[in-house]
Amino acid sequence: PRVAVVFGGRNSEHAVSLMGAGSVLEAIDRSKYEVIPIGIAQDGRWVLAASDQRFAIEGGELPAVDTSGAALALPTDGSSLVAYDPGSIPVELGSVDVVFPVMHGPFAEDGTIQGLLEMAGVRYVGSGVLASAVGMDKAYMKTVLAAAGLPTGAYVVVRDRDWRLNRECVLKEAEQLGYPVFVKPARAGSSQGISKAHDRASLEEAVEFARRHDPKVLIEAAIAGREIECAVLQSLGDEPAAASLPGEVRVEGGQEFFDFEAKYYPDQMSLTVPADIPQETGEELRAMAVRAFEALECEGLARVDFFYTPDGRLILNEINTMPGFTSLSVAPQLWAASGLSYPALVDRLIQLALS
Ligand code: DAL
Ligand code: MG
Repeated sequence: PRVAVVFGGRNSEHAVSLMGAGSVLEAIDRSKYEVIPIGIAQDGRWVLAASDQRFAIEGGELPAVDTSGAALALPTDGSSLVAYDPGSIPVELGSVDVVFPVMHGPFAEDGTIQGLLEMAGVRYVGSGVLASAVGMDKAYMKTVLAAAGLPTGAYVVVRDRDWRLNRECVLKEAEQLGYPVFVKPARAGSSQGISKAHDRASLEEAVEFARRHDPKVLIEAAIAGREIECAVLQSLGDEPAAASLPGEVRVEGGQEFFDFEAKYYPDQMSLTVPADIPQETGEELRAMAVRAFEALECEGLARVDFFYTPDGRLILNEINTMPGFTSLSVAPQLWAASGLSYPALVDRLIQLALS
């Protein structure tokens, strides 16, 4: 089969996507699949990956899609995704059997590219339009998880209009949560735009900071607890989705929380698999992860993040429908520790999309 590995995207997780795509391109079985690497630049242009495209952080510099590759356009003929150079001599690439969008965040993990691919009649790896959209929006995500009976933390949604017209009200409501609070753009990822606020002044600042990413913002009660994550994978047959071993992530770089630097720069975080938690807590957590996957009607893979509080409660922080996907990212590591290697995971996701 022909697989288009699509990476980059118009959002603040552009570089994170490239790091994941670099791993996928390395791991994908070339004797089984013909691979077409396609980049989406920050400005939205689609290009065939340049031969010297960089996928890793080098010298502290984040990778980005190199737009010197041939420009592509997507026809919408309803049957297949045919990419071609829109210059004077169109170069037909032919159709692809499956698209692997190794991308995160808005226009990538939020149902938009999924919708585009649905319209073009192309199969793709991962969740569909609805699950992607719900998973991207932290407010709707919590609504759906809570409706499925899953424990989520307390939060306040701040919509653009509320902030502009009723700021005092919003702040008072948020302060009911008690300081400190976490302030997050509703639709972003990799901790971009997130900060912790300890008082009214830093709260206002934090909301303005989050609003640079999204006019819709969440203020969440900070939850004291260990961070335990679990990956969920759809089964190839009729069996229910499976949960990986749970793993504990710890910030090692002195950051106040699991921020962008902790997530992507070397040696800033540690992952312990399986997490050192009681057996029955681990089983409960895995069952909850699968329920979250099913509540959103996810497909392919997801990573579900929990807090384990000192008094022994599990609180579901969030689900990610296209979790960080380098070979060293948490979800692939959780599967590796559970017996599914990174190349096997890549293969399984493609087979799921094709089935
Ligand atoms: N949004 C990042 C990629 C994650 O959830 O891992
Ligand atoms: Mg996330």
